[in-house]
Amino acid sequence: MDTIIEKVTEDSIKRAAEIIKRGGLVAFPTETVYGLGANGLDGEAAARIYTAKGRPADNPLILHIAQKNEVYALAAEVPAEAQRLMDAFWPGALTIILPKKAHIPEIVSAGLETVGVRMPSHPAARALIAAAGLPLAAPSANASGRPSPTLAEHVAHDLGGRIDMILDGGATECGLESTVVEATAEGVCVLRPGAVTLEDLRGVVPDVWLDTGSTAAPKAPGMKYTHYSPLAEVILVTGAPERVAEYIRTAAAASEAPVGILTARNGYDSGKDIVLSLGARQEDAAANLFAMLREFDRRGVTRVYAEGVDERGLGLAVMNRLGKAAGLVVEV
Ligand code: TXA
Ligand code: MG
Repeated sequence: MDTIIEKVTEDSIKRAAEIIKRGGLVAFPTETVYGLGANGLDGEAAARIYTAKGRPADNPLILHIAQKNEVYALAAEVPAEAQRLMDAFWPGALTIILPKKAHIPEIVSAGLETVGVRMPSHPAARALIAAAGLPLAAPSANASGRPSPTLAEHVAHDLGGRIDMILDGGATECGLESTVVEATAEGVCVLRPGAVTLEDLRGVVPDVWLDTGSTAAPKAPGMKYTHYSPLAEVILVTGAPERVAEYIRTAAAASEAPVGILTARNGYDSGKDIVLSLGARQEDAAANLFAMLREFDRRGVTRVYAEGVDERGLGLAVMNRLGKAAGLVVEV
């Protein structure tokens, strides 16, 4: 199949909405990462998402809506705390897991009794959902296991020829996926840290807790798979900044082949190696992380040393993704 790639315009959004209504697949920008959208009420269309991405069938999709009140057509129940989070963070980078209504296809929820819902803030995403007049099932628009796409080029690289259309809206603003929370009668639990920080959430619901799936049966099925991985082996090095730098300098010097170094805090002489800096601010690290993991592959390195970052604020999500990308974590 030929994949149409078009810049975001009113016309291209209309064409994209027609493709969605016919059961096709359209990648589109959101404020977090690019999503791969299909009609979220059509099981066959949703099945095409799994095929295009090579996504395991037990990993549910989230539904994207254009207006807050559309959540009531999808969720059987919206607990009070979920309502407060919607009021505080929608539109935006927060996915809320809620008990699902029966008409949502099995394949969308991967057989669970719940459904994830998010109202994105990106104008093109909202315009597409509104033009289609449907909730869009949309995982990140990468091939399963690869870093999430923050540019249309990343989508084309992974899924070109496998999907109908890519709407190119330039670089996504945040660069990390939404925060996934589950809201039940017992309270609110973070299943995937993301663009909305734990501190932000606790400003609205003080006793939010974190469950990122260290247990045998993670609650967000997606969190159990190897993820965000470049082809290169990633070694995450954590500890005091000077010791981290010393470890990475020694390891790089001992390697005959060029290595990749992903730095947040320390300077390195590049010499034979490829040194990429995530940037000083946490927002920069979030925005650059996935593109840099892909860049190491493009430059052909087979091993990447990544510095750990401070886990406060957005750093929690950055470290979560680095931890999932890494084959090995070294504490120095
Ligand atoms: O920012 C984002 O969330 C992006 C953009 C496109 O909206 N989407 C995204 O979707 O990252 P995806 O499928 O790559 O990640 C969704 C995560 C997965 O880890 C999945 O297992 C979890 O949410 N999830 C989805 N539905 C769930 C449910 N009913 N219960 C528990 N976890 C769920
Ligand atoms: Mg994903």
